[in-house]
Parts: sequence; C-alpha cells; structure tokens
Amino acid sequence: MTTTTPAIRTEDLVKNFGDTPAVRGVSLEVPTGVVLGLLGPNGAGKTTTVRMLATLTRPDGGRALVHGYDTVKQSREVRSLIGMTGQYAAVDEDISGWENLYLVGRLLNMGRRQARTQAEAMLERFGLTEAGGRPVRGYSGGMRRRLDLAASLLGDPKVLFLDEPTTGLDPHSRNALWAEVRALAGNGTTVLLTTQYMEEAEALADSVMVIDHGEVIASGTSQELRERIGGPVLRIAPERPDDLAAVRRALLTAGLGAARADEEESVVSLPLGGTGAELTAAVRVLGDAGIPLARVDTRVPSLDEVFLTLTGTAPAVLPADAADTSADPEGTAVPADSLAERSARTSADHEITRSAA
Ligand SMILES: Nc1ncnc2c1ncn2[C@@H]1O[C@H](COP(=O)(O)OP(=O)(O)OP(=O)(O)O)[C@@H](O)[C@H]1O
Ligand SMILES: [Mg+2]
Repeated sequence: MTTTTPAIRTEDLVKNFGDTPAVRGVSLEVPTGVVLGLLGPNGAGKTTTVRMLATLTRPDGGRALVHGYDTVKQSREVRSLIGMTGQYAAVDEDISGWENLYLVGRLLNMGRRQARTQAEAMLERFGLTEAGGRPVRGYSGGMRRRLDLAASLLGDPKVLFLDEPTTGLDPHSRNALWAEVRALAGNGTTVLLTTQYMEEAEALADSVMVIDHGEVIASGTSQELRERIGGPVLRIAPERPDDLAAVRRALLTAGLGAARADEEESVVSLPLGGTGAELTAAVRVLGDAGIPLARVDTRVPSLDEVFLTLTGTAPAVLPADAADTSADPEGTAVPADSLAERSARTSADHEITRSAA
C-alpha cells in the first residue's frame, strides 16, 4: 500500500431502498489525516453513505474503499481500521458505562486486563469516571454521546466516521466533542463527519462536501464554497430611504447593472467582482449624483446563505443555549425553540440571498 492511497474513497456509490434512491453516485476522496464534513439536509443520504463506508450497508452500485480495502470484499480489514458513532448513540442502556466499554474492548479481541484498563482510561478521558459504574439508562444525552465516541475509539481506529455527532447536544458538550475531534485529527486520524450544521462543518472540517437528494452538489473548503455563490456584496444605505430608487438608477445608468434595492433593509446591494472596481465606481457615481449616504459596507455571504443557495433548504441552527437532553432516550431531539428559530431564519435567509444575488 502506497502512502498516496486515500484513507477514504468512494467511486460512484449508489444505494436504493426499494423505489427510493438514497445515494445516487457519490464519489469522494479523503486523504489521510484530513477531516471531511459531509453536509446536507434531512434525507440527503449522509447516513446511508457513511453506513456503506462502515460496511453496515451494502452498496447497489459503485464501491467504497478504506485505506484501499473494499468495504464489501474486504470488510474485515476495513472493520479493523475504522471507528463509527451512529446518528443515534449505540450504547446498551441496561449496563454501566464501564461495562459497555469493557464489552466493546472484548469484542475487539482485547484480553480481560487490557479491556479493563482501556475502559477505565476512556472513562477518564471523556469525563465519565464518576458515572462509569451507573447504568447508562440514567445518563444524559451528552453523556451517552461521549460514551458512544469513547467506544468507537477503543480500537484506536485510523479512520473515524461520526454521523451527526453533536445533534441534540448542549453547547458545552458540543464544544467538548469538537475539541476531541480536533485532537484526534491533530494526531493523524482521518475523520468523516456528517452534519446539518454549517457552523460545525466550518469549525471542524478541512473540506466540505454538500450532498442533497443523494448527489454531491458542491465541494471544497468552506471559503471556496462561499466564493462560489458570488463573493462579497457592496451595500449602500442612503441617508433618506426615499432615495433608494435614485441610488439604484444612478448605479444602473453608470453600467453597474446588478444593483438591487432592498426596501426592507433600506439598502441597495451590488455584487462585487474580484477587483473592487465596482466599489470605486459606485461611490464616485453617487457622489456625482449628490445623493447623501448614511452607510456603505461590504459583506461576505455566510455559510448558511451558501447552504441555502445550494440546497434550497435552510441549514439546522446550532442550539445557542444549554438544552436539557436528559429526558430524551436517544439524545437527538431538536429543541422546539430551535425549530422555530430555524423556520424564522428560512425566510430571513431567503431575503438576504435574494438581495445578494
Ligand atoms: N432503511 C431504510 N429503508 C428505507 N428508506 C431508507 C432507509 N434508510 C434511509 N432511507 C431513505 O434514504 C434517503 C436518505 O436517507 P439518509 O438517512 O441517508 O439521509 P440523511 O442525510 O442521513 O438524513 P438525516 O439528516 O435526516 O439523518 C431518505 O429518503 C430516507 O428516507
Ligand atoms: Mg442521517
């Protein structure tokens, strides 16, 4: 095996569930030590893609390789290289955290003593030493997630699949998990994580791949994705909102044809090319026209706007306050206020995107 073999590679991967195409020809490549964020709305095919890579679902077409090993023909080799935490924490409720880890260690062919030592070390690493003796049933959502991640790291995997690792976590637990993922990546672990959160992809991923309806619709660094939807936008606010039309007219007359007036925000926006020539021209034209201005600024589209533009769906919003997930057996509930916020943002983001387009 040469060092240039990518840690993760899929070639035209396809999966259908009956008549439902879940994954429609996904090709991706993740070099060793890189964190790839697989981003997409509900039902995009994220979990299905990860499950095929993790040998849990058999592809209908194409193939998936981990360090060059085929997930179907060489599933045993693949399994020895990977760790996986699913979208729903896969821990046994009825036994303690320690027992969960011990059993996974034994399943990985560790001896009794090694499994015991490793279980204790993991509990310590994930701040679960105190809770380690109690049944998992009484754990909060965040504790289950940490235990799940600990279990997936027991075999010291070279490649880690994390399916929506922070969904349902409060900000404190999320930050702790992000720190852990960064540390793993820093140590050379290759990570493929799925998320519905732009912010999470930007915080953790070296590169981002956006999928929707089972297809890759964009990929690159988060910066590249931003640039794809048009780069910075110049926004001009006249002193008198009544002058909006005059501002727009003056810009159009000067040949700056992409100017749009946004009545609600009382600004005229103009996409800027790479040179900044439009900026100089716009300010000069408006000075010549004698229209008093209150404010001129430029803004770069947010990743949320990129996501919306690409998928037509607003991205999920990270919970801003500590949500209590302890009552949720799967630790994956989205707090109701976050859903409300999400739908509120959908219309707001549409507004921004339209005026920026
Ligand atoms: N076991 C299954 N049986 C039938 N259909 C399935 C199955 N698993 C997934 N699907 C369908 O395949 C499509 C992709 O689902 P998948 O779970 O991969 O999406 P996802 O991107 O992980 O979504 P989410 O963000 O909601 O977790 C969806 O239309 C889903 O309903
Ligand atoms: Mg999923």
